[in-house]
Amino acid sequence: MNPQVKNVCKALLRRLGYEVRRVRVSREPLAERAGKDAAYYTEYSTPWPVFAPWTGHPDFRTLYGGVAQLTLGSPERGYMLISLARYAKHLAGDFAECGVYQGGSALLLCQILQNSDRKLYLFDSFQGLSKPHSKHDPVFLEGQYAARVEDVKQRLNDYRSLADFRTGWIPDTFIGLESKQYAFVHIDVDLYQPTLDCCTYFYPRLTPGGVLLFDEYGFASAHGEKVAVDEYFAGKPEQSIALITGQALVLKLPP
Ligand SMILES: C[S@@+](CC[C@H](N)C(=O)[O-])C[C@H]1O[C@@H](n2cnc3c(N)ncnc32)[C@H](O)[C@@H]1O
Repeated sequence: MNPQVKNVCKALLRRLGYEVRRVRVSREPLAERAGKDAAYYTEYSTPWPVFAPWTGHPDFRTLYGGVAQLTLGSPERGYMLISLARYAKHLAGDFAECGVYQGGSALLLCQILQNSDRKLYLFDSFQGLSKPHSKHDPVFLEGQYAARVEDVKQRLNDYRSLADFRTGWIPDTFIGLESKQYAFVHIDVDLYQPTLDCCTYFYPRLTPGGVLLFDEYGFASAHGEKVAVDEYFAGKPEQSIALITGQALVLKLPP
């Protein structure tokens, strides 16, 4: 289209209260499987510069630099994790991560919690993913992301007074921790069933103002995670907040 005509059209639309913006709709075939929400899986971006400290701001690099090779998460997801953990440190309760793999994101949480009296409970089979749900988990494979727990413990050795490993299958590993209270939980188990099990165990034990952070809620590949979260929070006052990073957040309301 002729640029002048384009500008006139845009100006006219703006006068009518509309804004024209290019949003690429994903051609990712996986998005098609997301059912009624399929059209909303986009590679959204802004044409304007915005502050993006995860691209290498020194404050962020100090914490993230050493863990970049150890986590499956991206820098912007790491930034959200760090920022929300910093906030939750001011609330009562312990911290937890479900889905540890090589310990990259756990290492970030340890750095935030060092010199505090909080525990960081680390739940993982270390045998990789449990059995994917036949309908909701189209991409993942049983046993994917296995890691050697001895290596991960060694990696977190400087933080052994706060890191409490609960090795085994979720939800079995929640047994014995019924009386716990949590301020922050990072849920990164990729699949429908363990995500639902995490919601069922952690939500009632979350401090008001506390955070559940779901690592891959918005990714078409991890659709089961979204199905579990949406199913669990349907009818609850808290609703998941989808983040531009692909994560989602639930903040616990006071009773
Ligand atoms: C995506 S990886 C975690 C990545 C890690 N948080 C990071 O940032 O690098 C998913 C992890 O979930 C664990 N997992 C999946 N299903 C599980 C279950 N039912 N019980 C225990 N662990 C499970 C796997 O063993 C794997 O380590």
